[in-house]
Amino acid sequence: MADPETAGLAALLTPAGLALLDTLPPYEEAAVMALGERLRAQGHEPALVAAALTQSRLRARAQTKFGPFAADMVFTAAGLEQATRLPVAARHARRFAGADVGRVADLGCGIGGDALAVAGLGLGVLAVDRDEATAAVASVNLRRFPGVDVRCEDVTATELAGVGAVWLDPARRDERGRRVLDPRRASPPLSFALELARERPVGVKTAPGVDHDLVPGSGAPGGPWECQWTSVDGDVVEAALWSGALARDGVRRSAVVLRGEAAAVVDDAADPFGGPGGGERPPVGEVGAYLYEPDGAVVRAGLVGAVVAALDGRLVDPSIAYVTADRHVELPWASAYAVEEVLPFGLKPLRARLRERGVGRLTIKKRGTAVEPDELRRRLRLEGPEEAVLVLTRVAGRQSALVCRAL
Ligand SMILES: C[S@@+](CC[C@H](N)C(=O)[O-])C[C@H]1O[C@@H](n2cnc3c(N)ncnc32)[C@H](O)[C@@H]1O
Repeated sequence: MADPETAGLAALLTPAGLALLDTLPPYEEAAVMALGERLRAQGHEPALVAAALTQSRLRARAQTKFGPFAADMVFTAAGLEQATRLPVAARHARRFAGADVGRVADLGCGIGGDALAVAGLGLGVLAVDRDEATAAVASVNLRRFPGVDVRCEDVTATELAGVGAVWLDPARRDERGRRVLDPRRASPPLSFALELARERPVGVKTAPGVDHDLVPGSGAPGGPWECQWTSVDGDVVEAALWSGALARDGVRRSAVVLRGEAAAVVDDAADPFGGPGGGERPPVGEVGAYLYEPDGAVVRAGLVGAVVAALDGRLVDPSIAYVTADRHVELPWASAYAVEEVLPFGLKPLRARLRERGVGRLTIKKRGTAVEPDELRRRLRLEGPEEAVLVLTRVAGRQSALVCRAL
């Protein structure tokens, strides 16, 4: 362990270091200096104190991903950033448990976000990471599970005898720290996962923006595969590819929308329009009384047709993912708005109309237009007690502004 972060971690991941960490009060930025001084005055090594305070900060930050479990975990900054948040990892783990695959190898386990969820369901796990500090952190995080082995090695050399299925969450940063969208350039690359899929079921995380053409088709090893896009509270966080027994029968594309405790899944079986490249196109027509904004996971999965079908609705424009309908239906995978007015887009008439309506607070949504919402809001100079949602989009090829109310 060479750099200051890993050197500090080495000191921290000892019984004495972990004991010190457990004595720290809840992290508070303003209190860190004084706390550091006090710990050094008590005789703790400055490097250990620095590492413990860094860890305390990471634990506080990690609560958004791991909730109360964060308090019993350790992190590297990069490992935390790359870790799968618990509700998503729990869904991965349920696939493995449900497919009854036996021992699972998590190849490129990072700090152990996914491995923890799999082990938490009682499955044996082989967790592997080639980064020494990261593997050490994973060992601490997985210490309570006797059925887990953590190894520090390159996954291309990992012996998989006794492993029933594999999970891969490849590193998606290049040497300069830039995000890599193409799973063929991730580490390990998609080709590695496809090779493994010849022998056993595989799950692979990819970026949500993965090109649909790169999703393994029915003829790929381990196929047919299912690709599932996941959003958490409105942010699309991943597209996971599942092969063999981990893929659901007859499902090639799906979206899962997680909001708070609730989860809703929509599959291509619910999309009679066949998604990109296939089937009949969804109908397009006049803006009705309601506008629906499909969740980003549904859009990425190419399942807007499922929203159209569920609402008996239509698109406002053939190339835009806004759906309109004449009735209001609660759908967990689309936000609904009541449409109050449809105006051709133009700054002056829009300003005049919104002022007449007394709108002071405006949420601006847009698809298929270059307008910058903040700039527009500034130029509208609105004042008034009312609130509205303004949806800027093309309607039948024309730039339009829809004055709406969130439902
Ligand atoms: C995105 S992170 C995994 C995060 C993990 N799923 C979690 O929830 O904590 C990817 C990890 O793969 C590891 N990795 C990348 N290429 C590897 C290889 N060839 N062999 C072993 N580990 C590798 C990296 O060191 C990194 O820790």
